[in-house]
Amino acid sequence: MCGIIGIIASQGNIVDELYRGLKLLEYRGYDSAGMAVVRDGELLIIKDKGMIEEIHRRYNFLSLEGSVGIAHTRWATHGAPDKVNAHPHTDCTETIAVVHNGIIENYLELKEELMKSGHVFRSRTDTEVVPHLIEEYMRSGLPFKDAFIKAVRRLRGAYAIAAISANSPDKIMCARAESPLVLGIGNGRGYCSSDIPSLVAFTDSVLPLGEGEYAVITPDSVSIRRISDDSPVRRRFKKVSMSVEEAKKEGYPHYMLKEIHEQPYTIKYALELQRNYLDLMSSFIDRASRLFFVAAGTSYHAGMVGSYVFSKLARVVGFPVIASEFVSHYGESVSVDDAVLAISQSGETRDVLWAVEYAKARGATVLAIVNVLASTLTRIARVYLHQQSGPEIGVAATKTYTGQLASLYLLALTLARNRGKLGQDELDHFLQELYRTPGVVREVLGQVEEDTKRVAKLLKDARYVIFLGRGVNTATAHEGRLKLMEISYIPSLSYPAGENKHGPISLVEKGVPVVALVQDDETKKYMLSNIHEVRTRGAKTIVISSSGDEEVSEVADILIEVPRVDPLFTPITYVVPLQLIAYYTAVLRGLDPDKPRNLAKSVTVI
Ligand code: G6P
Repeated sequence: MCGIIGIIASQGNIVDELYRGLKLLEYRGYDSAGMAVVRDGELLIIKDKGMIEEIHRRYNFLSLEGSVGIAHTRWATHGAPDKVNAHPHTDCTETIAVVHNGIIENYLELKEELMKSGHVFRSRTDTEVVPHLIEEYMRSGLPFKDAFIKAVRRLRGAYAIAAISANSPDKIMCARAESPLVLGIGNGRGYCSSDIPSLVAFTDSVLPLGEGEYAVITPDSVSIRRISDDSPVRRRFKKVSMSVEEAKKEGYPHYMLKEIHEQPYTIKYALELQRNYLDLMSSFIDRASRLFFVAAGTSYHAGMVGSYVFSKLARVVGFPVIASEFVSHYGESVSVDDAVLAISQSGETRDVLWAVEYAKARGATVLAIVNVLASTLTRIARVYLHQQSGPEIGVAATKTYTGQLASLYLLALTLARNRGKLGQDELDHFLQELYRTPGVVREVLGQVEEDTKRVAKLLKDARYVIFLGRGVNTATAHEGRLKLMEISYIPSLSYPAGENKHGPISLVEKGVPVVALVQDDETKKYMLSNIHEVRTRGAKTIVISSSGDEEVSEVADILIEVPRVDPLFTPITYVVPLQLIAYYTAVLRGLDPDKPRNLAKSVTVI
């Protein structure tokens, strides 16, 4: 996730506003930033790695001057967070500047084509193809506006783009597909930005650009058309009266709910991991004699799922280990033959760093899955995968968990292919199912909201809640328990359902809510009998299962059905209703789910 903003005025200097707007977008990414303005027919650019404030101290954004400009704050996806990869990106003539949020899927083929026509690329980003494409079409005689539209039509993937040209300083061109973009108008200025909050500071007249649309922005007008056929779009500006803080949540009452709803996109981003890094990591794992998944909190649950799928798909045994336990449990035996795959959203969790520093000192290979680029873990790891979920503000991890799962599945399938453990048909089937998960999660979000609110009503006064899972969803049960407990403060218990009779069933009495996860695999019949066991003892059963399973509906007091995917991938789809149940329960109990007491987003002490 990145933030982009563009401002154009008929006269005067817009740089101060551009700078203030950019700072409001910083939550969307903060590993590098930049700004481009046009002054006297010349493009002036300041960009570098680091946070906006640091770059400002280094170069002083306000030393720029101009009445049209664009700016960007970056959350790196393609290319390391350094100066050359920072936006804005320019063409060969350095007269066209572009900022972009999203991922251009076909950039490699476009880059190759443009290089053949003589374009020289400076960065490793997907974005840089855009200014060169515009330049290419301008070379053939098209004006800036038409060249921009033609260029955008060539792009596949997700994008919100704004572009300016030193030769046409009377307009900003912008377009969007999947990534958000909002337009604004007022005080003799035209605006575009990734979000409303950065605009409400300047104008109360805003208008979201729709999917597949582009706009020409001038100081006093915006004209919107469809990218595909150039047909005009008529949509009125709306008056917004909200604070910057309210606007940042994009209409959601809490960040946690917003982040839960971002998952169809963030899972998709995680599935765009680059093949060469996956292959590299897979070869390190293949060569190791033992594999440990090391993580804390929610990330540990992702490691548990990883352990099941690595075994099932790639026949690789990996031990999930709580990071703080790693050294005392396995320390003496860790050696150069081992691989440690650390999973950490922040890349800064002290317990995780302690474990990997220790393992590295003993010669083990350290690998990582992280969400924050340039974090300490990325510097320690020999290879890391960047899950690309964007910044997560709610303390309870939601979208970053499913992003970790998607990365692990992709790695498991890469490993299975490289080790020759799956036939072509099986591999195709699993890949197809995996790539369906973002769409299925979108359906889940559209279907289960009311059911989860109903469950929240049942749970809100419970003394305690029990979560049961088996197989791949044992970890999902743990994650559902952690989410509920950490934000609603209801004591909760989770365990593999087979352990029921070995102790926990003594807690079951009339009315105790038991949340059970049933996937349609070899564990199903055992899981059904576990649900019977608790139900005959008076438990209220809340069952999450795949749609159309009649046997399951017979044992459920409340049934939450989610659309089917291969059972192996249900940890991605089943956790979504559990996140919503935790969220609504906390809200019904009058608690702020974004800021649970005593907890921190990143724990940097042991
Ligand atoms: C804290 C957070 C959790 C997170 C855990 C691990 O406890 O509150 O949400 O799962 O740290 O964090 P990491 O950044 O390493 O994934």
